[in-house]
Amino acid sequence: MHLFWLLLFLALVLVPGIAVLKLQNAQNTQVDGSAQGRSQRSESKRIQKLKQHRKTFKESTPKTRVGSLFGQLQEKPHCAGVLQCHTEEVTCFAFHPKKRCLLSCSSDRSVRVWWDPMDKQARFSSVTLFTCAASEYKVKFPDSAEACCWSKDGQLILFVLSHTRAIRSYDVLKNKKLLSGSLDVVSTQKSSVKDIELDPLRRYFVTYDDNSSFVVWNMRGSVLTRVDTHQVRNNQMAISPDGRFIASAGFIGDVYLWEILFQKDSNEFIELRKVIDLKGHRAGVKGLAFSHDRKKVATVCKDRTIRIWNIDVKYKLEEDAKLLFSLEPWDTQVDLLQVAFSPDDNLLAVVGNDSVAFYLLETRKLITILRGCTGQVGIDIKKFSFSGDGTLLATIGQGQSFISLWNVPVMPSFSNV
Ligand SMILES: *[C@@H]1O[C@H](CO)[C@@H](O)[C@H](O)[C@H]1NC(C)=O
Ligand SMILES: *[C@@H]1O[C@H](CO)[C@@H](O)[C@H](O)[C@H]1NC(C)=O
Repeated sequence: MHLFWLLLFLALVLVPGIAVLKLQNAQNTQVDGSAQGRSQRSESKRIQKLKQHRKTFKESTPKTRVGSLFGQLQEKPHCAGVLQCHTEEVTCFAFHPKKRCLLSCSSDRSVRVWWDPMDKQARFSSVTLFTCAASEYKVKFPDSAEACCWSKDGQLILFVLSHTRAIRSYDVLKNKKLLSGSLDVVSTQKSSVKDIELDPLRRYFVTYDDNSSFVVWNMRGSVLTRVDTHQVRNNQMAISPDGRFIASAGFIGDVYLWEILFQKDSNEFIELRKVIDLKGHRAGVKGLAFSHDRKKVATVCKDRTIRIWNIDVKYKLEEDAKLLFSLEPWDTQVDLLQVAFSPDDNLLAVVGNDSVAFYLLETRKLITILRGCTGQVGIDIKKFSFSGDGTLLATIGQGQSFISLWNVPVMPSFSNV
């Protein structure tokens, strides 16, 4: 009897309980379901927003910088092309200061000017092979050019020929033609000319050799001054963007800045004197570069240090240039060879052996390393340069007959973040 009541009681209490539980479970799944729906909706909204954002990012960035940051860094589309029409070693090259156009000289005794066939279209397509048809102009010299530079206004090209040591100018005409210019002098330096640098204001140019001397010339080909730097051997020289300083780096650790003075109205040369000494490197300085805002100098040294200096100082009042900061090389075994600021001064590009590393100056962080674009792994980069618009980087390897072009990594401007 008692058992019957107990069972009845259990039945009465438990069955509705189970039902209630079931109902609750069902409601729970329903709740889950609607949450999932909501999160799906918000996810698609988020993606839509992202797409919208990317679209506006693309549209709002200048044409030359199109391409998402992520695409640039992750999909490795950093090889922009190879210029390969020279039949012997490329000896020098120079970018046009504004256009995506490049001049190159080779031991095959030709000089080529390459106009970018992709100029208006897919600038960031992964590999664009520049063909010989892209080279619209070709000069045959009886001699080969070993150094060249392009004036800041894009109107003038200077060459130094290797055997005769003749320095010649060419005028760049509107229809992309080169015409023999007025300058044709012979360098009187005893050893061969290592490089030539042109004043952005076109008042003078500098030639230097492998020893420790450099010569300053006016544009008519007269020697203004001849200087011994006392740096044992010249590694690299550079002219500041305002043409006021000539920097020299050599076998000794100190880098010198020489100020060149001209009469204001007549552009008559007054004097050249050493005004700033960048002290601190403990071995030969291999490469140096001025920032485009004229306030900094970057140096790379045999002691495997990368330094950024503030040269915006009152040197006339004996104020010394200061070391702003140093950057860590990406590899302890890398031989640092050259350095350059990007045209907007946001990036510092450093060449070490066969690689180019990019540092973001704002954060002082390494952002990427470019290497092995065209199979030249293991071959040291001899010379490199940013294009005038900052989108491309060109490199030539020791002994190689082609020029590699790389897409410069795109970083969003910090003012927009
Ligand atoms: C410059 O260096 C070369 C070797 O690289 C040497 O033969 C030449 O005599 C040197 N010239 C001067 C002026 O010291
Ligand atoms: C760079 O080149 C030097 C000299 O050729 C070599 O000793 C060094 O190991 C190279 N470093 C790297 C990281 O390849």
